Amino acid sequence: MKDAQSPLVVITGGSSGIGRATAMLFARRGWRVGLIARGAEGLAASRHDVESAGAQVATAQADVADSAALRAAADAIVAALGAIELWINCAGNGVYGWFGEVPEAEFRRVTEVRA
Ligand SMILES: NC(=O)c1ccc[n+]([C@@H]2O[C@H](COP(=O)([O-])OP(=O)(O)OC[C@H]3O[C@@H](n4cnc5c(N)ncnc54)[C@H](OP(=O)(O)O)[C@@H]3O)[C@@H](O)[C@H]2O)c1
Repeated sequence: MKDAQSPLVVITGGSSGIGRATAMLFARRGWRVGLIARGAEGLAASRHDVESAGAQVATAQADVADSAALRAAADAIVAALGAIELWINCAGNGVYGWFGEVPEAEFRRVTEVRA
């Protein structure tokens, strides 16, 4: 376990891609890490990696488009690990492919947003 005074970074989208890689960079530098994403499976896998790097970690499921859920996730991480030093927004989505070959459901997934 790292020094209890080591700073805490919270990373949205920390269960995959850029967010997950960023979480590992901080973990290896002695930071404590909070991870937020929607899916439990990805969060569990990222948690495993961060813990393997010797860092304390807390995870919380939330959709960043849902401000109440996001606040609850932040509060849960603060309750587990203390004050947040740094917040990184990595949650995002996209799709790669030829326009005519991307399924409609994928367009919807990427472009539908909530107020
Ligand atoms: N990778 C690249 O080369 C690249 C280059 C330029 C820009 N970008 C942009 O950078 C962003 C991240 O890319 P990436 O490659 O790291 O993507 P990724 O591997 O798909 O990871 C996206 C992360 O965001 C989370 N997420 C997505 N929507 C969310 C939501 N509504 N609420 C909470 N968490 C959410 C995902 O977890 P859940 O799905 O479980 O929520 C996952 O942890 C994207 O917007 C992408 O377009 C990426």
